[in-house]
Amino acid sequence: MSHVVTKTGTLYGVGVGPGDPELMTLKAARILSEAPVVAYFAKRGKTGNARRIVEGRLGAEAVELRLEYPFTVEVPVGDPRYPAEMAAFYDEAAEKVAARLDEGTDVAVLCEGDPLFYGSYMYIHDRLAGRYACEVVPGITAMSGCWARAGAPMTRGDDMLSVVSGTMDEDGLAERLGAADAAVIMKAGLNLKKVRAALARAGKLERAVYVERGTMPEESITRLAEKPDDDGPYFSLVLVPTERRTV
Ligand SMILES: C[S@@+](CC[C@H](N)C(=O)[O-])C[C@H]1O[C@@H](n2cnc3c(N)ncnc32)[C@H](O)[C@@H]1O
Repeated sequence: MSHVVTKTGTLYGVGVGPGDPELMTLKAARILSEAPVVAYFAKRGKTGNARRIVEGRLGAEAVELRLEYPFTVEVPVGDPRYPAEMAAFYDEAAEKVAARLDEGTDVAVLCEGDPLFYGSYMYIHDRLAGRYACEVVPGITAMSGCWARAGAPMTRGDDMLSVVSGTMDEDGLAERLGAADAAVIMKAGLNLKKVRAALARAGKLERAVYVERGTMPEESITRLAEKPDDDGPYFSLVLVPTERRTV
């Protein structure tokens, strides 16, 4: 009696680093060069940041699975339809990846920075990691890329680092920033006015460094106190290095 053994593919969550293509691990580069299918999220009409980072690194035969967001600004984040529509989109995206895994094909899902640190890859991981063999390849986070470029020693000794999101309300931000020795504020650019006010309340504005598109060709780094406006793109963050001096 014979029976067919079907082997499903492996899901790879691949961190591709903060922007500079050289800030990718050797393991990520190898998996990307071998992956038969490479999946990534992208906004309509855009290449996709993670895809841009891996340009020239994919195998010649690689099939690209572009997972295109259904809307960009048409449905605002605060709209009650937003969570349901995004969940449906991620369900559908995960099933497209699952279909390739079911055929026995490995799929590498790209993720900017580190996949398990605020990464978009997690929407796929949450839905599929329990169903398929899965390997996550860590990546250099945006914050470490940014503090390296800014030359900012962030934490020393027993310092406490807080990572907060600029989407939080001003009171919450001021409280957490006030308690931290050092901090990183993610998603800062679109919330810069509030972030600036919270840092001033926490007595940390003078130390804050604003980094836009860190490690990318369009990078811009400035002391936040010297930035003349509150405009910034999605790909920006604020660093608050420790006050502690070296011994
Ligand atoms: C969805 S999170 C992705 C985080 C990523 N997985 C990581 O490991 O850093 C997106 C936020 O990361 C920050 N970010 C990502 N890349 C950046 C870059 N090159 N320069 C500055 N900030 C960046 C921004 O704050 C942006 O709003």
